[in-house]
Amino acid sequence: MNSTLNTTFTWGLIGPGKIARQFADAVHRLPGSQLGLVYGRDLAKAEAFAAQWTRNDESGKSAPRFTADLQALLDDATIDAIYIATPHSQHGEAIAACLAANKPVLCEKPLVPHLALGQRVVALARERNVFLMEAVWTRFLPIYRVVQDWLKGGVIGRVTHIQSAFCFTAPYDPNSRLYNPALAGGSVLDLGIYNLTMTRWVLQQALGECPEPLSIQASGVIAPTGVDQRVAATLNFPGGIASQFTCGFDSCADNGLRIFGERGVISVEKSVSAGTEATLLLKGEEAQRVTRPQRFNGFEGEIEEAQTCIRAGLIESPAISHADTLATLGWMDEIRRQLGVRYPFEQGQREAHVPATSTPCRRPDQRPDALSAVGGRARCRCGVAGRRPGAGVSAWHRAGDLRPAAVQAW
Ligand SMILES: NC(=O)c1ccc[n+]([C@@H]2O[C@H](COP(=O)([O-])OP(=O)(O)OC[C@H]3O[C@@H](n4cnc5c(N)ncnc54)[C@H](OP(=O)(O)O)[C@@H]3O)[C@@H](O)[C@H]2O)c1
Repeated sequence: MNSTLNTTFTWGLIGPGKIARQFADAVHRLPGSQLGLVYGRDLAKAEAFAAQWTRNDESGKSAPRFTADLQALLDDATIDAIYIATPHSQHGEAIAACLAANKPVLCEKPLVPHLALGQRVVALARERNVFLMEAVWTRFLPIYRVVQDWLKGGVIGRVTHIQSAFCFTAPYDPNSRLYNPALAGGSVLDLGIYNLTMTRWVLQQALGECPEPLSIQASGVIAPTGVDQRVAATLNFPGGIASQFTCGFDSCADNGLRIFGERGVISVEKSVSAGTEATLLLKGEEAQRVTRPQRFNGFEGEIEEAQTCIRAGLIESPAISHADTLATLGWMDEIRRQLGVRYPFEQGQREAHVPATSTPCRRPDQRPDALSAVGGRARCRCGVAGRRPGAGVSAWHRAGDLRPAAVQAW
């Protein structure tokens, strides 16, 4: 890695589109971070993108360079890590290229479009011993520190129910990233992932870890292109806890999060986008409202997290672990299965979807009951160690156990 604790952390960027501007803006404003090299398929576009971040002379930051040659980015020794912001369908290929070049990766959500591919890229990160993190920026918004304290402190009592929404209206365009199945469009991958990630986070704070759902029930509206235009889903967890969410491209919503407990309710306004305010309403008491503004545009939290982890030599972030990413991908696979949404690049693959019940082995050639206890640790018949059967928790293979040979076509 180029930088040490005392030098500037230099980012490379793949996919200079809309959201990459937010990332670049935060990097530009963060002391000790800079954008070094922008890769785009179109050189003029990459140049125009890079030119936006050359204005700050006083910061001492050098102007970002630009290229239309991916290999030039991968080979550049001054680049400490690469941020990927291409359409969903292109993430896997870009991640694989970066990891193979030993470049740490922060990749936009969803890490990849489906679980089987997620397992392959995580396996590659572990094989190469290179950092890989899904960029779920909302997890690092300062307001969630407050919510975390309330949940860990058991302030609302036993959590019983979670409700959230993430919707906006996007005019139908079959070629757009949102509606095009070839680009892995659809509302659950684009928006619902925030509701699902937040569900997982809330239960981790309240219970210590997020149990595997006992069942998932999804319904939705399918766009003419075959992707999910709107989804309503409920995840039922042990102990009667349920998480309901709605996401979609054809509706307005408050985009808030509500966590119900036996003694009160926590609400976060605009929780899945720019949440800065949370309210604690306890039975018989006045509502307590707390505000925590973002420092820059909200992306700074995930950027600092990635930088800290990379400098510490980690290959995953404890805040968004590989297991978290894989579990969420499994939930999204199941929701899409129930809605009949299948991407063109999934056709011909063996059926990898499995019931939402605790399912230790996701290899297509293994059955869900294929765990046996070996020396106190669970071991799948495919030979991969997992967690104890019946533990009621997410029991994915440790992805590092999957062989690099499993990294095939993306
Ligand atoms: N964190 C958030 O709040 C947030 C918000 C919106 C989107 N996102 C995520 O960010 C990613 C990008 O979304 P976006 O809205 O920024 O998309 P976008 O504006 O369409 O930008 C994507 C960029 O990827 C490049 N690209 C590479 N292969 C491509 C292909 N086959 N088709 C089209 N573009 C391709 C394009 O740059 P070149 O043509 O120069 O290569 C394009 O500018 C997605 O993963 C999305 O889910 C995150």
